[in-house]
Amino acid sequence: VHKGHGVKGLAELGLKTLPHQYIQPPQERFDTSIEEANQDSIPVIDMSNRDDPKVAEAVCDAARKWGFFQIVNHGVPVEVLEDVKNATHWFYELPAEEKNKYSKERSVTNSVRFGTSFSPEAENALEWKDYLSLFIAKDVDEAASLWPPVCRNQALEYVKSSEPIVKNLLAILMKGLNVNDIDETKESMLMGSKRINLNYYPKCPNPELTVGVGRHSDVSTLTVLLQDDIGGLYVRNTETMKWIHVPPISGSLVINVGDALQIMSNGKYKSVEHRVVANGRSNRVSVPIFVNPRPSDVIGPLPEVVQSGEKLLYKNVLYKDYVMHFFRKAHDGKATVEFAK
Ligand code: SIN
Ligand code: FE2
Repeated sequence: VHKGHGVKGLAELGLKTLPHQYIQPPQERFDTSIEEANQDSIPVIDMSNRDDPKVAEAVCDAARKWGFFQIVNHGVPVEVLEDVKNATHWFYELPAEEKNKYSKERSVTNSVRFGTSFSPEAENALEWKDYLSLFIAKDVDEAASLWPPVCRNQALEYVKSSEPIVKNLLAILMKGLNVNDIDETKESMLMGSKRINLNYYPKCPNPELTVGVGRHSDVSTLTVLLQDDIGGLYVRNTETMKWIHVPPISGSLVINVGDALQIMSNGKYKSVEHRVVANGRSNRVSVPIFVNPRPSDVIGPLPEVVQSGEKLLYKNVLYKDYVMHFFRKAHDGKATVEFAK
């Protein structure tokens, strides 16, 4: 294999067939024609009247039922979204030597990582995806000083301009759990750190044999996802267990609940399985911001959330340990949350 050039490097060799390392077991492959018959779709919520109780209700309902929704009129300027998608392409267009300055072996910091697949050491079959992952411990300007110059300002602007809507959504979701006061401890647990990923899914020679991203739920409290117009993200309907496509809507952001919020809400909000198909038509980019607890936080069901007599579904866990557990195995559906049981 063309080591160190990611799947983009592989795709550009003009391969006619998928290298065997990427062949997923049959149960993980995905026949997208099945989905066409599904009429269901995740809610699209207009955030222009943020203080409207109906908007709050729609957000909390979506977080309980679907764990996923899209938002429009969210206040992040459309140019900021376009710029970060373009900058993602620019990063991947850099020569391999430039990108590899940020590889696991060579990056000067753990906070900046260019890689491929999910956890190659732990996977029996690889995923058809490259990523640049940028960790934000606290201050985003400080973090960004180490980011690749070709996408630095665009990623920075996207993180900064999405902050108000993130705060707003978390306040709405907390209110929906009767948590009206977000003190410093809670603020840290909800949004004490962040990670932004610039994902690249090259056109694939045998998309039906592999995946872009395997079934998983996120370990975040909340994920804000920007996708381009290619499509391919599927979400599990928790009632019917059917896979539902998340259609690209120009200017929208996809929001999903992560495991940390499922745990803090004692299961009231759901962190739902999702996956990305590989495709044979076009290169796809996506840019998620994972809004996370601080690694040193201990998370568990919030006291206000648990009614008297209600059973605690999760124990307290050190967030750093939870994340380590996630990365120590291949993507495996909702398995990570077992760690908190
Ligand atoms: C992910 O959930 O890991 C990626 C989502 C996407 O690329 O749409
Ligand atoms: Fe995800």
